[in-house]
Amino acid sequence: MRKVLFAASECVPFVKTGGLADVVGSLPKVFDKSEFDIRVMLPMYECIKDQYKSQMQTVYYFQMDNIVYVGVMKLELDGITYYFIDNKQYFSGSKPYFDLFTDLERFAYFSKAVLSALPLIGFRPDIIHCHDWQSALIPVYLNTVFQGDPFFQGIRTIMTIHNIRFQGTWNVGHLQYVSRLPHEVFEPTKLVSPFQDTSLPKSDWTASMLRGGLVYSDWITTVSNSYAYEIQTPQFSDGLDDILLCRNQRLKGIVNGLDYQIWNPETDANIAETYNIENFIAKRNANKIALQKELGLNPDPSVFTLGIVSRLTDQKGLDLVDQIMDQLCETRMNLVVLGTGDPHYENMFRHYQSKYPNKIAAIIGYSEELSHRIYAGVDALLVPSAFEPCGLTQLISLRYGTVPIVHEIGGLKDTVQPFNQYDNTGTGFGFKGYHSQELMDRINHAMYLFYNDKATWNGIQKRAMEQDWSWKNSCEVYRQLYLGM
Ligand code: ADP
Ligand code: GLC
Repeated sequence: MRKVLFAASECVPFVKTGGLADVVGSLPKVFDKSEFDIRVMLPMYECIKDQYKSQMQTVYYFQMDNIVYVGVMKLELDGITYYFIDNKQYFSGSKPYFDLFTDLERFAYFSKAVLSALPLIGFRPDIIHCHDWQSALIPVYLNTVFQGDPFFQGIRTIMTIHNIRFQGTWNVGHLQYVSRLPHEVFEPTKLVSPFQDTSLPKSDWTASMLRGGLVYSDWITTVSNSYAYEIQTPQFSDGLDDILLCRNQRLKGIVNGLDYQIWNPETDANIAETYNIENFIAKRNANKIALQKELGLNPDPSVFTLGIVSRLTDQKGLDLVDQIMDQLCETRMNLVVLGTGDPHYENMFRHYQSKYPNKIAAIIGYSEELSHRIYAGVDALLVPSAFEPCGLTQLISLRYGTVPIVHEIGGLKDTVQPFNQYDNTGTGFGFKGYHSQELMDRINHAMYLFYNDKATWNGIQKRAMEQDWSWKNSCEVYRQLYLGM
């Protein structure tokens, strides 16, 4: 029996701000329980729903380094054991993340507490699988502070990059203060870039927690093949291409899967009419009408309806959407937006909604339930991201027979096959250059087929729904990785 511990800052159904939570919440469930014991460790955020908090039990509490409290709570749910690192000082508040300065300390604490707790709770993993910068110090602690303890000998680590843009970067002085890691890790080629200007005082050098994870872990994975390649280039690496190139024999791209139980149009309790590949045409129309009504748009299934479900950040290509909005609103279409994030983009969509109230419905907020109704009710989903490590919204959209229109980059490139009119293949639309006119051209192409060639349009939807983006394939790749370590 191989034992694996996931350490992460988000996990469905407890706390979610993006796809990281979907992955951490679904991947552990797909392994054969007779072969793997996979458990998950998360911060005990105050914002976790009472429904879950009330079922947790305290398994241990102690003073880490004789100064700071660590409580460990436990909850079994759907066959998975979850542990929660409890410390009110760090994890109270209405949301999982605050400002970066504060978060550095909170997640340095979390990473050290994960390791400190293990000998006390009776679980010794063979592998610790870390996700993003919030748990990236675990391999660093393991190879330094915890190295001498026999309990930890032989524990292997995987560092998965879900988004290289966020690294937990600050100056050495502060990171050293919050992590209490030894001096030697704050050197060039370790947590510090080899290109650091070393004539500056050391405490002013820049250090990256994610870089630490990449340097000290046994394996590095990321969430699609294309992104694994892209992040080895300066354009996409956010300053980490040196270490990724150097370790590329230990770097693997493993595309994300979807939880096919949660994302299933045939059983989805959030949508007006459930459907499958046999009856999707009529039923999706019913879902579209229900969605239009819900959002105050004119209920008319004959109108081409676009959707965006996204964090509203620079990553997501919303500057391209901004540039085409007036042009788009001259055509016969609706656009439904569900998102929250950067106030600049929130206000941009509010502005367009008030300018074109009959065409645009912008819901600035977060709603899991509404997101399901959008996936089931819109004709096409826009995902024009500037970069996209994997992307789950296009996978959900394929599953729901919504045609994705994507920038062919990262995971979007690996999962959406662009429509080819010559041999009538493809599951969506793709544009290669990051330009608003290319996006507009693809939307026009999609709209043309929707209005003038329903058979071809429905064919794209059908092929999209026939794809298998469950965890089946990628689970096998992770399995081989775990077994080979
Ligand atoms: P990222 O992790 O970069 O945000 P992904 O495409 O991997 O992008 O995952 C986004 C996930 O978050 C999807 O499950 C999507 O449905 C969900 N999501 C994003 N914004 C919202 C929102 N405002 N309301 C509900 N769900 C959202
Ligand atoms: C990140 C990426 C997204 C990916 C998700 C889960 O948030 O931005 O592309 O799908 O993590 O891996």
